[in-house]
Amino acid sequence: MAPIDPHSFTDSTHPLSTHIFLSLYFDFSSSTIHGSALISLPNPHSGSVSLDTRSLTIHSVLDPHSNTPIPFSLSEQDPIKGSHLSLTLSNHSSFLVIYTTSPSSSALQWLSPPQTFNKTHPFVYTQCQSIHARSVFPSQDTPAARICYSARLNIPHQLSAVMAARHLERRSPVNNEAALLFCGNSLWCAQGRIVEEFVMEQPVPPYLFAFAVGEIGFREVGPRTRVYAESVPAVLESAAREFAGTEDMIRQGERLFGQYEWERFDLLVLPPSFPYGGMENPRMVFLTPTVIKGDASGAQVVAHELAHSWTGNLITNKTNEHFWLNEGFTTYAERRIVEVVQGEDRAALNIGIGWKGLNEEIERFKDNLEFTKLKTKQEGIDPDDVYSQVPYEKGFQFLWRIEHQIGRPAFDEFLKKYIATFKFKSIDTETFLHFLKVNIPGIEEDIDLELWTEGTGLPPDAYEPVSDIYTKIVSLANEFKLGRMPREDEVADWQGQEWELYLENLPKTVDSSQILALDSRYRLSESKDYEVKVAFLQLAISCRCRDYYGEVEKTLKEVGRMKYLRPLYTALVQGVGKEEEKILAKRLFSEACDFYHPIAQGVIESIFSKHL
Ligand code: BES
Ligand code: ZN
Repeated sequence: MAPIDPHSFTDSTHPLSTHIFLSLYFDFSSSTIHGSALISLPNPHSGSVSLDTRSLTIHSVLDPHSNTPIPFSLSEQDPIKGSHLSLTLSNHSSFLVIYTTSPSSSALQWLSPPQTFNKTHPFVYTQCQSIHARSVFPSQDTPAARICYSARLNIPHQLSAVMAARHLERRSPVNNEAALLFCGNSLWCAQGRIVEEFVMEQPVPPYLFAFAVGEIGFREVGPRTRVYAESVPAVLESAAREFAGTEDMIRQGERLFGQYEWERFDLLVLPPSFPYGGMENPRMVFLTPTVIKGDASGAQVVAHELAHSWTGNLITNKTNEHFWLNEGFTTYAERRIVEVVQGEDRAALNIGIGWKGLNEEIERFKDNLEFTKLKTKQEGIDPDDVYSQVPYEKGFQFLWRIEHQIGRPAFDEFLKKYIATFKFKSIDTETFLHFLKVNIPGIEEDIDLELWTEGTGLPPDAYEPVSDIYTKIVSLANEFKLGRMPREDEVADWQGQEWELYLENLPKTVDSSQILALDSRYRLSESKDYEVKVAFLQLAISCRCRDYYGEVEKTLKEVGRMKYLRPLYTALVQGVGKEEEKILAKRLFSEACDFYHPIAQGVIESIFSKHL
């Protein structure tokens, strides 16, 4: 008995499953899914097999050939890992698990019709990274285990389904399909229902499993790209415009990192409660609608999720302890794409914003230095609680440092070889370091690889970014401390990211009057760009400029992206003597909580438990 991943019950002595066939019957009236999962092993196995589940009701486990029961036990729920489903197999190479999800499944957000744009039909979607796939289907939910899958989604016929997988067909349900197992009256079951079938033929880690079901429409954007969203013409049109440059980015990605292996690169714009900016689900990236604002930043999120097609989805971190291999490489790759399609200035600005974020994050973790390391120990840690910029930006810094050491042409060649060598594999930090040392002989003499990957904080040889635009903005922010506001001509060509960098470099405590003056000149609190608006509101809260609490309330009730929720709720509840703010935070959360995805709800609750 040896676990291979601190976040999974998967055992090193058990075989890893290779294929899962899912039949999912969506019951919107109870916010549950009745499912059957046919799980295959590479060879017949006798003895136990451990699966991860979270809030699943397991009805039975069967031998798929004889329909005879297979003995199983389900443990008490561990607060982080969920419940261990242990099976006892006798020479089985596959088994069928019949189960039902819970309305509080941590991966799923069920939106009632009033919570959607058109207000007519319900909507449901997944967010499985890092360890939420187990709340949708039982599996060895560790990125060390890669699976192919097929899925049949049985849904109301007014709706349609999309998945991060190849769509096979939309058809009427036929008799004896697994869905019929769940209701006595098969006629009732088939009535008004439709089945959508999908297949994922490339082996992927379970956290990349994804679907959405609702009233979904699409527009063509490029030869391998459509943008999908709730079927609202205005939303679809603006999304199609925003992402028009996607094919160009895919081509740049292929030039830099090798062939695009996933055939399609579709985009799905989710309702505003989507908890992330983007999620790199293969073949179909999931995006927050907040990225659609008509400037360069939407493309930046797409560049990031696209880059994961190589770094993350082809080469995957073996466990969350090596998460930087996913996000650090992807941040580096994203900036290389941005540099080609949007120019060096834009890329430099992103590096500057990232640098500032990294330094603040390291400061935030000053009492918990473990999470300033690239490789972290995560036994007993919930990955959602320690999500931070460190794996992204320190990972980026490490790769940038190597690039500077060996020169860009050599680094580019190294990257291509790295991807070609480990594609469709899950690897750890040691595997990467070994490959680096073999391919760049002597690198360990120039760069302290151990300090970079295992040390806390930032190594002394990290580069503070230098670029005219970065330096200019930081010095303007410093002048604000002396009471000088930027002049109109100085900010005339600023976009959201310039303001973001400026605001993030302002001191955390300035006079309310200064905040009001800045806002009355530049209307930052009303910005349509949430990055700008939230950076401004965060400053307003930390300076206790209460004039803006109405805007804070509005913001917290209209978006559920954790990048905005975290800093705003934290600014409200942290610090002493902020009774009014704490009461406000609690009221807002109780009023907005139904609108948030369960992952976001959990993260806010954990912020409250630390500060209240
Ligand atoms: N894979 C992440 C999102 C994620 C990380 C979900 C950890 C669950 C657990 C995604 O690629 C990401 O990094 N999104 C960023 C985009 C940004 C860096 C451009 C986000 O959501 O802000
Ligand atoms: Zn990412």
